[in-house]
Amino acid sequence: MSRASLAKDPSHVSEMFDEVAPRYDCTNDILSMGQARLWRRAVTRAVAPRPGLRVLDLGAGTGTSSEPLADAGADVVPADFSEGMLAEGRRRRPDLPFTRADAMDLPFEDASFDVVTISFALRNVADPAVALREMARVTRPGGRLVLCEFSTPTLAPFRAVYERYLMKALPAIAGRVSSNPESYEYLAESIEAWPAQAGVRDLVVGSGWTDVRWRNLSGGVVALHTAQRADVPALARY
Ligand SMILES: C[S@@+](CC[C@H](N)C(=O)[O-])C[C@H]1O[C@@H](n2cnc3c(N)ncnc32)[C@H](O)[C@@H]1O
Repeated sequence: MSRASLAKDPSHVSEMFDEVAPRYDCTNDILSMGQARLWRRAVTRAVAPRPGLRVLDLGAGTGTSSEPLADAGADVVPADFSEGMLAEGRRRRPDLPFTRADAMDLPFEDASFDVVTISFALRNVADPAVALREMARVTRPGGRLVLCEFSTPTLAPFRAVYERYLMKALPAIAGRVSSNPESYEYLAESIEAWPAQAGVRDLVVGSGWTDVRWRNLSGGVVALHTAQRADVPALARY
């Protein structure tokens, strides 16, 4: 069993997700106490899928974040760099065009999507600013970003309870239900180390996006950031 470190070496991160893949969705439902379904509904509303909308779901994993978008008629490309997660996704949804892609070097043409969305994945990327710039490059000018990630609860008493859950209870529960329990220690540590809402906004603004807004979900356990692709000529590939 392997777990990544906060250095987020891409080969360690992808290997860790390969091992998580078989029980990924079930473990999520248990650890989030059902909240994950609410977060996905918020992402879907923000993407506003409709027939013909070209959507890249980056870090799509098993495709759980892509399914509601595809089911609403959008042309969704679920992309991920873990072969294990992609294999699980292809088995479950053979109709979706699962694509192997590294967020820091996307295999897509400039301006080829109307919306790029990323759920619970940017935190795992070694250099999130590079990934955000790549996402801007493949989005058409005026196109949108929908970024869903764990964040920082806004009320201090709730934050204290949540941090205890994250660092103590979550790894213990994951030990019983996950196919790679060690990876849930990484999950807790990486959430702790991830910038709060305003820090993520600053990261997005500096990476080819404008009009960045966010809303908190579940009291700030999760934040949903949206932005528009800055209206500048083609962004160079990193
Ligand atoms: C926690 S899962 C989220 C999956 C899905 N978006 C969801 O909401 O359930 C994170 C995913 O991000 C992928 N990932 C992490 N770093 C990546 C990178 N640099 N390029 C592509 N995928 C990456 C992992 O392989 C994993 O499948």
